[in-house]
Amino acid sequence: MTPFTVRAPASSANLGPGFDSLGLSVPLYTTLRVTPQGHTEVVPMGAGLDGTPHNESNYVYKAMLLAAKRAGQPLPHARIEIESDVPLARGLGSSAAALVAGIVAGNELLGNPLTPEAVLDVAAREEGHPDNVAPALFGGIVVATLDKLGTHYVRLDPPAHLAVTVLIPDFELSTSKARAVLPKEYSRADAVHALSHAALLAAALSVGRLDLLRHAMQDYIHQIWRAPLVPGLSDILEEAHKHGALGAALSGAGPTVLCFHDTREDTARLHTYLHSVMAKNGLTGTVLDLPIDVVGTVIERH
Ligand code: HSE
Repeated sequence: MTPFTVRAPASSANLGPGFDSLGLSVPLYTTLRVTPQGHTEVVPMGAGLDGTPHNESNYVYKAMLLAAKRAGQPLPHARIEIESDVPLARGLGSSAAALVAGIVAGNELLGNPLTPEAVLDVAAREEGHPDNVAPALFGGIVVATLDKLGTHYVRLDPPAHLAVTVLIPDFELSTSKARAVLPKEYSRADAVHALSHAALLAAALSVGRLDLLRHAMQDYIHQIWRAPLVPGLSDILEEAHKHGALGAALSGAGPTVLCFHDTREDTARLHTYLHSVMAKNGLTGTVLDLPIDVVGTVIERH
């Protein structure tokens, strides 16, 4: 078998009210170079992966084993080189990119016994929610559900002129910590607020109603509880629209904050605003304009 490369993108989950169900992918990547050989080698490369295991306990390799387990076949040996420019523990789906890349690579090594839907289901069950893994796999904007009957999704091409600006703080926040602060139960009023806004957001994204994003992105399920963990988040959610954002949300479990912008508008004023929020809160970080990735995970044979 010839060597191949798998490249999986970063993603931003939730987009406000679409908690655990809505996400989009962005062009920062985890890349695996897989060379079939007689023994297994796991080789993380680059400063971004310092501290990740150089052996079979690496998360990417464990993800490859999940593909083998679902297929009911042993995983063939290979050298697996791992590179990533997805910042770790920032709410940009670094673990989802690693998981999806690993499952897709495992499936490829096995001769592709799993359909894309099965790959998604394996990934969503492992992660516990599909909102990062679905866009990482399929690209674009994905609405997805996970329940005991399976993982179901609709992939949307992003509306014309829609792109994102992300503020990636220099500190890490683990998803488990950011999930631990959430209430266990919500009132019916909160549930109705969340599902109506998530439904409006999905509909607005599907027909390109960029004017509705700001309203539709309101959320009381997770962002208010996580705001104490992310200095400046509340300000950005309230004020970003005054500085050119079409809407704003905590990216996944944070601490990255995502703003939508219209590509026909200059984002300089949004950047100035986001830098001022960081300065006010004593934070450092990176502000970046990114298109929405429409490709998802790709496999290239060498
Ligand atoms: N929907 C998840 C959360 C995304 O907000 O906790 C993080 O993986």
